[in-house]
Amino acid sequence: VSGPEPLRTPLTALLGIEHPVVLAPMGSVAGGRLAAAVSAAGALGLVGVGYGEGLHLRRELDAADGARVGVGFITWVLDRRPTMLDAALDRRPAAVMLSFGDPSPYVGRVHGAGVPVLCQVTSAAEADRALDAGADVIVTQGGEAGGHGTHARSTFTLVPEVCDLVARRGPATPVVAAGGIADGRGLAAALALGAAGVLVGTRFWACREALVSPASHARAVVAGGDDTMATTVFDRVRGITWPDGYTSRVLASPFAREWHGREEELGRELHRLSVDYHRAVADDDVDVAQVVVGEAVALVRGIVPAAEVVAALVTGASTALRAAQGSPIASA
Ligand SMILES: Cc1cc2nc3c(=O)[nH]c(=O)nc-3n(C[C@H](O)[C@H](O)[C@H](O)COP(=O)(O)O)c2cc1C
Repeated sequence: VSGPEPLRTPLTALLGIEHPVVLAPMGSVAGGRLAAAVSAAGALGLVGVGYGEGLHLRRELDAADGARVGVGFITWVLDRRPTMLDAALDRRPAAVMLSFGDPSPYVGRVHGAGVPVLCQVTSAAEADRALDAGADVIVTQGGEAGGHGTHARSTFTLVPEVCDLVARRGPATPVVAAGGIADGRGLAAALALGAAGVLVGTRFWACREALVSPASHARAVVAGGDDTMATTVFDRVRGITWPDGYTSRVLASPFAREWHGREEELGRELHRLSVDYHRAVADDDVDVAQVVVGEAVALVRGIVPAAEVVAALVTGASTALRAAQGSPIASA
């Protein structure tokens, strides 16, 4: 199947892809099948390692079936199990992404294997440190994003601020926008802000190849951006201790609404709630089990193949850029 014309930027040159679109390495969602489908469509698929449980790195890289894909780690998890990086590098990934933590202990090893490093950051200060560490690509995550982050900055201001920071520091490192990008308008906006591409989570989460339950998908297609919230409730009930300052953007389900702001009480009832929670996950009861999406869930109205999402992003961006050029202000 032929896709849209390549949309080349410094990011596509660096990563050896046709379109400036990267699949977010969503833990236990972006497995080998989704990553391979995104790469086959001319973008770059990243397998999400997450907490390194359930979704076993080797199994998911096998599921990619020889496709050219990369791997994304949660850096503070990698700090506890650093050998996971060797397991990934043995498989010659197209790229390694490091998010949420200090990337500096790992960048040299990844470069030594001849693999580019993408660092996801949530602030300008973190971007500065990632550049110090030797990142080849800076992924700026705005608080609109689904999943974990600091949810303190917005994509719309963080992208140009980091682009200016990169420009001041010398040789151009491509900046990739993440958070809230789900269609061609978002890709066009990111390029207009100075980014060389986008990293997309929520929109690819809503794809047939994603490791997502049917009830979660059904809930997402009717949800809007107002229906999301950033909370620690699900980390607490699952007993996952994130470093201070991180929350996760999820759908505001009855369970999340009930316990958000009452985390201490939740801690006191943890045993009972944790049993209920895991039962809900097994039963695919999304009134209780978390549904991890960002504000861009508003733009998700169907569960489609990943190749369709890539094509829609690229053709939609061209349309949006042409429309902006034809606007009364541009032609005045
Ligand atoms: C379901 C889900 C799981 C995620 N898991 C991870 C992860 O394991 N590692 C990571 O670096 N980012 C993770 N993220 C965040 C993404 O890297 C990215 O910042 C975000 O999806 C971009 O915003 P968007 O969801 O609006 O596209 C996750 C996001 C979602 C939606």
